[in-house]
Amino acid sequence: MAVYKIALLPGDGVGPEIIDEGVKVLKAVEQKYKGEISFEFEKALIGGCAYDVYKTPLPQSTIDLAKNADAVYLGAVGDWKYDALPPELRPEKALLGIRKELNLFANLRPAIVFDELLESSTLKPEVIKGADIMVVRELTGDVYFGEPRGIDTINGKRAGYNNMIYFEHEIERIAHVAFKTAMKRNKKLCSVDKANVLDCSRLWREIITYVSKQYPEVELTHMYVDNAAMQLIRNPKQFDVIVTGNIFGDILSDEASMLTGSLGMLPSASLSDTKTGMYEPIHGSAPDIKGQNIANPIATILSAAMMLRYSLSLDKAAGDIENAVRAVLKEGFRTKDIASENTVVTSTSKMGNLIVTKL
Ligand code: IPM
Ligand code: MG
Repeated sequence: MAVYKIALLPGDGVGPEIIDEGVKVLKAVEQKYKGEISFEFEKALIGGCAYDVYKTPLPQSTIDLAKNADAVYLGAVGDWKYDALPPELRPEKALLGIRKELNLFANLRPAIVFDELLESSTLKPEVIKGADIMVVRELTGDVYFGEPRGIDTINGKRAGYNNMIYFEHEIERIAHVAFKTAMKRNKKLCSVDKANVLDCSRLWREIITYVSKQYPEVELTHMYVDNAAMQLIRNPKQFDVIVTGNIFGDILSDEASMLTGSLGMLPSASLSDTKTGMYEPIHGSAPDIKGQNIANPIATILSAAMMLRYSLSLDKAAGDIENAVRAVLKEGFRTKDIASENTVVTSTSKMGNLIVTKL
């Protein structure tokens, strides 16, 4: 029997509540495949809760646990209560830190519009119906990590600055992930940059174009990020796979989530060139609704499905989770964020339970 080690990093805010639901679902998978699949869960602190105990948001013990796991399952980090901390100690730093430590350079963020949720989006149903986009976001480079950075006095004036920088090899490896992803889908890749203004983007476009020669079956297009932001809500169905840098991907993936009705619907997988990946919802810790049992656990539960697929090669079980989510939505159950007329509003834990029953 295969035993998989899962590092659980619930984090802050609604993180613990949604991870609980994800674990429930994984345990149901274990039951369903009794004798074939088994999970060993081990928890560690990350973010603000880790700072409270260890005076650092990313303790070495958490990094070690993550590195030794088959997959990392993360909730969310951050709370207003840490806003006054210096940047190095803020919860967000832990998220960036663990991505870097595990070399998770490829972030897959699928935005799939479920027919059942057409009414939950703020966009017109005919615009979004059938949209199915995979955003491939580079995750360990760009202005997020570029040096130099800081707030200093330059020529007598205070200035804040960051460096948007991509090395050739960083663009090349994310390009391969994106083209391979497109090969498994509809073979269309749109690379998003700002090559009309940024040198960093000019190199990005050059390397993406160079790598495309190895994937002649994939139809490659390039789009400026401002246009892409507009096209995403004008006609999202034109997109299959989008590849872009860290900051543009951060912004466009939040935008793409609104096609699906809620930020609470979008899962993500962060991958390196080893098998250990990290799986987390794209939304944040939502401290305003923490502890109220109203957060949407679906993004987290769908992240578990991605974990089974990408790190553990359990495609069938991954599909089971996705079908269970769909079935529950079909029956009209919704958390508050995706509720519409004629639906039944359920709590975080009830949503988890319903999904478990379908498994
Ligand atoms: C995300 C988040 C993070 C990011 C923050 C919390 C550091 O917005 O995962 O999209 O900017 O990458
Ligand atoms: Mg973001």
